[in-house]
Amino acid sequence: VELVPFEEQRDAGLLRRWLHAPHVSRWWGDPQRELAAVLEPPTGGAHALILADGLPVGYLRWQPAPRTELEEAGLSDIPEGAIDIDLLIGEPERIGRGVGSAALRLALAHIRDQRGAPLVMICASVENAPALCACEKAGFRRVRTFDDGEYGQMWLLTAHARGAAPDGR
Ligand SMILES: CC(C)(COP(=O)(O)OP(=O)(O)OC[C@H]1O[C@@H](n2cnc3c(N)ncnc32)[C@H](O)[C@@H]1OP(=O)(O)O)[C@@H](O)C(=O)NCCC(=O)NCCS
Repeated sequence: VELVPFEEQRDAGLLRRWLHAPHVSRWWGDPQRELAAVLEPPTGGAHALILADGLPVGYLRWQPAPRTELEEAGLSDIPEGAIDIDLLIGEPERIGRGVGSAALRLALAHIRDQRGAPLVMICASVENAPALCACEKAGFRRVRTFDDGEYGQMWLLTAHARGAAPDGR
C-alpha cells in the first residue's frame, strides 16, 4: 500500500465515482458536498490517493481539526493543532483486506515525521465496525463517544502524534 499526492485533474472522476458508491456514501454523506470539499485542498493538511498493488483504490485526507466543529461536537478538550483524518476505500472488492489500516499507518507515520501536531484523531460512527477495526489495527484507541448532529453517535479515536505510541506502534 502506498500514498501518492492527490491530483485534482487526474483523480476527480475517480473520487466522484467512489463518493457515489453506496458503501461510501452511507458514512461520508452527500457525494456532491463531499466532492466539493475534496476539490479544495485541505488547509494546513494534505490529501492522497491510496494505491494497492500500484492501483488507485481509495482516498485519505488529513488536516487540522477546525476549532468550531470541535466545539460544536463537545470536543473542546482536543488540543489546538490536532490533526483529523478522513479516509475511504472506494473499490468495494478491496474492502476488508488490510488496505485501510495500512494507509492509516502510513499517514500516521508521515504526520509524526512532521512533528507539528500534538494528536491525531479520527471520528467514526459507532455502527461502522470495519472503520473502528481498521483504526484500532493502525494504532488508534477509542476515547469516548459523542453525538455528531449530522452523523449520530460517533467514536472519537486518537493516536499519539509525537514519537511512538506507548505500545510501540
Ligand atoms: C473504513 C475503511 C476505510 C476500512 O478500510 P479496510 O481496508 O476495509 O480496513 P481493513 O481491512 O484494514 O480493516 C477492517 C477490519 O474490519 C473487519 N471487518 C470488516 N467488516 C466487518 C464487520 N461488519 N464487522 C466487524 N469487523 C469487520 C475486517 O475483517 C478487518 O479486520 P481484520 O483485518 O482483522 O480481518 C473502508 O472499509 C471504507 O472505506 N469504508 C467505507 C467508507 C468509510 O467507512 N470510511 C471511514 C469513515 S471513518
